[in-house]
Parts: sequence; C-alpha cells; structure tokens
Amino acid sequence: MGESRYHETYRSWQADPEAFWRNAAAAIDWVKPPTVILDRQAGLYGRWFTDATCNTCYNAVDRHAEGARADQAALIYDSPVTGSKLSFTFAELKREVATLAAVLLDMGIARGDRVILYMPMIPEAVFAMLACARIGAIHSVVFGGFAAKEMATRIDDARPKAILAASCGIEGAKIVAYKPLLDEAIDLSAHKPESCLILQRPQLAATLRSGRDHDWAGAVTTAREAGRTADCAEMRATDPLYVLYTSGTTGKPKGVVRDTGGHMVALVWSMFNLYGVRPGEVFWAASDVGWVVGHSYIVYGPLLAGCTTLLYEGKPVGTPDPGAYWRVIAEHKVAALFTAPTAFRAIRKEDPEARHLKRETLSHFRTLFLAGERADPDTVKWAEDILQVAVIDHWWQTETGWCMVGNPVGLGMLPVKHGSPTVPMPGYDIQVVDEAGKPVPAGQMGSIVVKLPLPPGAFPTLWQADERFREAYLAEFPGFYKTADAGFIDADGYLYIMGRTDDIINVAGHRLSTGGMEEVLASHPAVAECAVIGIADALKGETPCGFVVLKAGVNTPHATIEAELVQLVRDRIGPVAAFKLAVTVARLPKTRSGKILRGTMKKIADGDAWNMPATIDDPAILDEITEALKAKGLGA
Ligand code: COA
Ligand code: AMP
Repeated sequence: MGESRYHETYRSWQADPEAFWRNAAAAIDWVKPPTVILDRQAGLYGRWFTDATCNTCYNAVDRHAEGARADQAALIYDSPVTGSKLSFTFAELKREVATLAAVLLDMGIARGDRVILYMPMIPEAVFAMLACARIGAIHSVVFGGFAAKEMATRIDDARPKAILAASCGIEGAKIVAYKPLLDEAIDLSAHKPESCLILQRPQLAATLRSGRDHDWAGAVTTAREAGRTADCAEMRATDPLYVLYTSGTTGKPKGVVRDTGGHMVALVWSMFNLYGVRPGEVFWAASDVGWVVGHSYIVYGPLLAGCTTLLYEGKPVGTPDPGAYWRVIAEHKVAALFTAPTAFRAIRKEDPEARHLKRETLSHFRTLFLAGERADPDTVKWAEDILQVAVIDHWWQTETGWCMVGNPVGLGMLPVKHGSPTVPMPGYDIQVVDEAGKPVPAGQMGSIVVKLPLPPGAFPTLWQADERFREAYLAEFPGFYKTADAGFIDADGYLYIMGRTDDIINVAGHRLSTGGMEEVLASHPAVAECAVIGIADALKGETPCGFVVLKAGVNTPHATIEAELVQLVRDRIGPVAAFKLAVTVARLPKTRSGKILRGTMKKIADGDAWNMPATIDDPAILDEITEALKAKGLGA
C-alpha cells in the first residue's frame, strides 16, 4: 500500500473549498464555464456553479462519441433472465439517445417537464434517462418493486407530462406485469399524464390504451427512418436533472432533487478519486436504475468518466447460480463492482466455499465496493478471502447522491477497519453531535451531521417542498444537514454507522419507512394500534415485523388477519417492502407518556440483551411481547 494522497487532498478542500471544486469542474465540458463556484445566498444553503450552463447527456455521451471513445463500449447489457447480451458503443448510444429524445419532443415534452420512468434493467431505461437529460426534461424513475399506490403518490407529486414504461420486468424466474400496475396507478392518481410510451417486451405484451399509450418501438423506428434526432439543450447548472423519491418518515416519499452541474462535477471526481477507475475501464454497479446507486453509478458516473458501464438484469443467485457475479466480472473484464452487502450474503448462503469462483478468471478485477446498508465485518471478511481484492465499505444516501464517507482508492487506499466506511470525502465536514448539537468526544455515539453547505452533487432541496426540506434536514441542528444516521468517530477519524435515528429500515439494501407500513396496517378495519420495527435478518440485514393490537370485538382468527395484513402491505407499498411478519398482541409496550418502546421490542425480537426501560408504563407487556414472538419462532 503506497502513501495515500487522501489527507493532503482533504486538507486542500478544507483550506479552500471553492478552489477545490473549481479545479474539479475542469473535468466537465461546459457551454458556459462557471465563474461563480458557490453562491452562498442562493437556495436553502447555497448553490453551486450558479452562472454556468451545460448538458449532462452531452458530457455522458456526445463528447465521448465525438472523440476518441466513439467505438469504445459505453453500455454492456447482460441479461441472464432473457438470455441476451448487447453492447453499445458511445457512437451507438448517442444515436439511440438522440433519436429517443426526438420522440420525446414529438410527444410535446419540453425542458422542465417531468417524465416518470417505470422500467426494468434494460438498455432502454438508460436511453430514456439520457434522452430526458438531453432535452432538459426531468426524469423520475420509479423502482419496479413498488405497488400502484406508491407510483400514484409519485405521479401526484411530480405531475409528469408523460410516463415511459416497459410491459414487464423479469424477477428471477418470475415475469412481473408492469402495465396493469401503471394503468392502476394512473387511475388512482389525481394528476393524469398526457401520454405513455410503452416498450413491448417479447416476454409479455401489454394492452395499449388508445389515445394515451404509444408504442415505443414504432415511435423510435418512425423517428429513425425520418432521420430525426434532438440536440442537447443548454441547461443552467442549477436546473434539476432528476427527481428521485425516497422513503421519508411518513408514507409520503421525499422527492430528492438532483441538479445538473454540481452532480456531474461530483460524480466524475468520485469515479477517479474514490472508485479509482480509469476511462475505458468497465464499471459495474449491480443495483437497479430505480435506486440512487443506479442513477449515479450505473448511468451517469461511469459514462461521464468515459468508462464502460454494465447493466445486469439478473440476481446474485438463481440466475442461474451463485456464480453469476463471477461470470459477469470475468466475461466483461470488470475492474470494479459496486453492490449491496446483501448480494454477498445471498451468494455466501448458497455457495459458502465459493466453489463457483475461479479467481484466475478475474484478472481485471481490482476492487469491490459495498454500500446501501451496514457492511457486516463477517461478510466483508468472506468477500476479501474469496476474492483477494480490496473490499471497500462506503456510506452515503439518496440525498447526497454520492459518497460521504469512504476509502479513496483513487487517491491511495487507507488501511481498512472492518465495520467502518473509513473517512469523509472532500466536500463533507462530518461531525457527531449530541442532542444539543454539541460535538461529542471520539468514540462516543451521537447524531451524524454534515456542516453546510453540502458539496456539489448533493440535493439542493426536495421537489417543490423547500419547507419540508428545511424541516426534515436543517431545523434540528442549525447550520448542519441531519443525516438521520447515528454513530461515532474513532480516535483515527474513522466513522462508524450504527443505525438510523428515524423510522427508516434497510431491507436487502432497500430503504423503507416503517411509518409508511404502519399507515397501511392501521388502515385495516380490525386494527386498533400497531408498530412496525426492523428485526435482524441473516440475509437481508433487516426485515420488517409488524405488531398489531386488534379492536375489541374482532372475532376473526388472528392468522387470517395477519395474512390479510401481509397482503395489504404488498398491495399498497409493494413486494419490495418484504413484509412477511405480522404479530397479534394484546397491548403494545409504552412509556408513561405514551411513546411505543420500539427499541426494546427490537432487542427482544433479535434475542439481544435488554434492560427494563425506567419509564415503562406496564412491564408485564414486555413478557407478552416475548411470548408472542416466541410463538413465531423469534427472540431468545
Ligand atoms: N420489480 C418487481 N418486483 C421486484 C423488483 C423489481 N424490480 N425487485 C424486487 N422485487 C420483488 C422480489 O421479486 C420479491 O418478491 P416476492 O416477495 O414475490 O419474492 C420482493 O420484491 C422482495 O425483493 P428482495 O427483498 O430483493 O428479495 P429477493 O428474495 O427477491 O432477493 C436478494 C434477495 C438479496 C437476492 C436481492 O435483494 C439482491 O440482489 N440484493 C442486492 C442488490 C440490490 O438490489 N441492492 C439495492 C440497492 S444498492
Ligand atoms: P439510501 O438513501 O437508500 O442510499 O439509504 C441510505 C441509508 O442507508 C443511510 O442513511 C444508512 O442508514 C444506510 N447506509 C447506506 N450505506 C451504508 C453503509 N455503508 N453502512 C451503514 N449504513 C449505510
């Protein structure tokens, strides 16, 4: 391990943040380069590159297609679930994107209009995101595992002019019909999009609604035959590139806004300095375009950096076996893989000895990056042992769009400490504070906050909800962004993430709100009261567990109601919630002031040691909870 340039780099950012980001901005082709780096008076905490103009699609696609990378693969699609593989050079990607962008213009979509995408992991999803970026439309991708009602909420918040969707997704061996879900969502929503562009996949054709739905392939063919393409629109650096909804502390998701200029600057910096890849290398983020990891590191980051990005439509296991990731890495000469620890837990469960792995075939593979949930040391060690490459945990959120705390491979790796995502990236002044906002000593737990301003790439606000942004993120610790994660910093400056301070849980790397699930359970006519907590799960990290108290006089068998509740969460939130466990109890444990003791319930369910809370109203209730969990095979 050579000397790392991390400390000098971080110090140079601390000494002069604007000079740091001015330098980083040189990696982008601007239409009008920035003279203002940070306008502290603009926006809710300052805005980056306020006088600059640029286009994200130009930087991700055109500049490579027009330069030395024209014939280099930009996008490799590998789909074990359909048995297909495709590759697009930057020149081909430009043709696809510019043609689809012309179709969007023909649909009346203009700069600033929102376009919802409901797409599986297929090249058209990437084309659609880039086509929106090209004409200045704001895309909002909705993950395929959400139910119609979740999509309807997003439609009503984003008010899209159009929706682009595929007829189906393929989840392992299952075909998931997307179109009926889309139709239901539009029926449920108050806002109605003018049109939908539907990609018919051969696995399952959808019925098109006349007047509203258009056939994707037909529209693209017509535009192509007419030789129609759209140019890149000149956007302000501060214009929104996309809105991505993420779970908040209620059932109403938060519309995280990403801007145009700062996003590009931050992502390119991260590709070279954090992920340590070079232009021309293959970068694989095994996530989904519906999540922030997919936005930043399947689509924008690698393409902006001139890398080849890999789009994998499959699972870590079962498509067809736990050797799938090794096959993809070997076949496409992947240099770096980014995935959630859950994927490795899934592989390990099926192939603990890694018999499917032939290390000599992975000669291009240098680094494994993990994020999205806690990287448990056991899984990290296993990955290190079997792969014999660096395994890097790093910590970030949908809100920040890129890494807050990581181990900067490009600057020279720092020693790894299992359980810690390592150190703050330039741009992030991370502090751990007590309830009064006072920094706590090294080693002591507290709330993790980031000193404002947030760096380029992080969200400037929530979609048309400045007040909610202030309230959710800025109000509690004035001058700081509240991450809602808790943890500590050790004597060497390494951060440790210990958990959330709000109701968010992380299920298989998917971010979910237990408050949202409680709203669904409470809507069942038999339920008087409920509480949802995340309990430890060997594969998914956490899974939700819902405790319900039934209304007096309900005679339906508990098992029937519990099954209805499981189905209700699936119907309202979606299969991704992975809500499989409802437990009927007589009463919920509360403090004397009426606060439900979720933390203690979690400890009981996880079989951890717990102390009787001093403020508990009736200690006997915890015995009842213990018994109810035991009956389900949970707890000590
Ligand atoms: N469209 C429709 N349904 C989807 C979906 C999608 N895009 N993604 C997941 N689902 C469904 C699943 O099919 C499953 O349905 P089921 O209840 O009928 O079985 C449900 O949502 C829960 O999915 P998941 O929690 O992912 O569990 P799983 O058992 O299907 O897979 C893993 C478990 C570990 C293999 C999988 O979560 C995985 O590959 N995770 C790692 C990578 C990752 O996606 N990280 C996220 C962001 S970095
Ligand atoms: P998301 O917005 O979906 O990326 O989820 C962000 C949340 O996931 C964070 O606030 C953390 O709670 C958790 N998280 C993400 N990365 C890590 C990590 N490396 N270690 C621990 N928790 C993480």
